[in-house]
This record gives sequence, structure tokens and C-alpha cells, in this order.
Amino acid sequence: MIQSYKKNQTILDVSHLRVGHRDKKKVNILRDISFSIFKTETFGIIGETGSGKTMTANSVMNLLPESIYKKKGEVFLEGIPIHTFSLNEMRKILGLKIAFIPQNSSTALNPIYKIGFQFEFVLRNRFKINTLKARSRAKEWFEKVKLRNIDRIYNSYPCQLSGGQNQRISIALALSLDPSLLIADEPTTALDSITQQEILSLLLSLKKEYELSIMFITHDISIVKKICDRVAVMFKGQIVECGITNQILTNPKHSYSKSLLNSLPTSLV
Ligand SMILES: Nc1ncnc2c1ncn2[C@@H]1O[C@H](COP(=O)(O)OP(=O)(O)OP(=O)(O)O)[C@@H](O)[C@H]1O
Ligand SMILES: [Mg+2]
Repeated sequence: MIQSYKKNQTILDVSHLRVGHRDKKKVNILRDISFSIFKTETFGIIGETGSGKTMTANSVMNLLPESIYKKKGEVFLEGIPIHTFSLNEMRKILGLKIAFIPQNSSTALNPIYKIGFQFEFVLRNRFKINTLKARSRAKEWFEKVKLRNIDRIYNSYPCQLSGGQNQRISIALALSLDPSLLIADEPTTALDSITQQEILSLLLSLKKEYELSIMFITHDISIVKKICDRVAVMFKGQIVECGITNQILTNPKHSYSKSLLNSLPTSLV
């Protein structure tokens, strides 16, 4: 049990998470991961490729591949022990409480259905509203994420839209569910730098408006500096450092954090 859990303060508490391969010869993927995310904060997880960032998010959501399993650890969402949940119970939580924006929006959107249909389906199920209401609510969300040509986009398939448009739709879809926690796994990596800046600014303004709590996964320290209140630095399946972003940036302790910092343009340090 987490001793420090205080009601109404944290949205997510992860405690001593250990995740490994079913093949016992392979080394563990996550080694004793513990962290908490406070309400309305943006908590960054940064680390090099393969360090376990996505696996951390997948373990929180109980979405691990067949060959990998959770050996140990507890995950509390608003004090509820979701690590004890069955797959079905977890599916409900994923629709109601946790929203997810993946790195590649094509995995969030179904390629064979038009965008509007997917939105209507999700909103009708989540809020038990009719198609007409779902349609008008979906279009409101399209405006919130600053999409133009709303009617055309509504009647398009994901493959007919740009990466930036699809990512705005993923954000709209995730936030329209009114989640307690948003998990964003490198949501801007596949985008050009101008679109990346626009999407980050959009997320920041929506976060303020909806008082969101966000777990933001990235390998880009300049993004952490821009949007994260606190950050955990991952290295080889462990959190090697965790704290307030500015403190980690000005006084990194671990050699990996130091090398990350060296990769920042001096104007940003
Ligand atoms: N489906 C899988 N089956 C087996 N091992 C996997 C699978 N997915 C990831 N891994 C392994 O788990 C470890 C952590 O991977 P993870 O995807 O969490 O890295 P990451 O930090 O998100 O990296 P990236 O920045 O490239 O997205 C890696 O060693 C990876 O090879
Ligand atoms: Mg990843």
C-alpha cells in the first residue's frame, strides 16, 4: 500500500511496478517503478528509446502484450486499486476515467470507418446520447481543437487526412470522454516542428480549461521544459530521477539526465 496517498491530492499512484517477459531468460522491462501524479499536473516521463516509457503507460492501463506480464506492483487511480481489475473492468475505466493519445494517431483511429462515425459511436456509448446530440458534440470538439473544414473532415477516413489533423482528432476524441487522467505517449513525435508546437499549445490550453491531469511521455527534453510540472527520467527500466522540471533541468543528478540536458540548445537551458 502507498503510505503517502492523501485523498484528493493524487490522481495516480504507481508503486513498485515490476514487469517482465514470460521468457525468464530475458531481463525485466520495468524494475521497481514508483511515482505519483498530482491532480491537474502534467507529469513527464522522459528516457531514451527502449527505456520502458510506453511499457509504463501500458502497465498502468493493463494493456500488456501476451509475452509480457506484471510481476509485482500496485496502481491506484483516484485511490481505486485498478491493478486488481479484470480486463472487462479495466475496459470500462479506459472509456470513463483514462484517455489515451498514442504516438501514432492511426492506432487511435479505425482506418475503415469515417471520422464522424467513430466519434458518434464513442460519444453515444460514453454518454448514452442519441446520434444527433453526439454529432453536434463531436463538431464542437472539432472546433475546440481548431480543425477547419469540419464537415469534410467529419465525412473523411483517417487516411484522407494529414498527420496533424488526425492527431487533433485523437486529442478531441480523448478529451471528449471527459477523462480524469490523460496519457499521451509521444503525441507529437510524428509531426513537423510547426505542427508539433501548435499541438503542444493546444494541449496546454485544453489542460488549463479542463483542469486535466496528464502523463506525458516524450524523449524530447525541450518539450518537458515547455509543458511538464514534474518529470521522471527513465533509464533501462528504472526511474533514475524524479522531481520538479526546473530542478531536474538545473541540477540533474544522474549521468543520463545530464546528457539529456546537454542536448538542449543553450537558449533553452
Ligand atoms: N511487444 C513487445 N514484446 C516484447 N518486448 C517488448 C515489446 N514491446 C516493447 N518491448 C521491450 O520492452 C522494453 C521497453 O520498451 P518501451 O516500448 O516501453 O520503450 P520506450 O521507452 O517507450 O521506447 P521508445 O522511445 O522507442 O518508444 C524494450 O526493451 C522493448 O524491446
Ligand atoms: Mg514508446
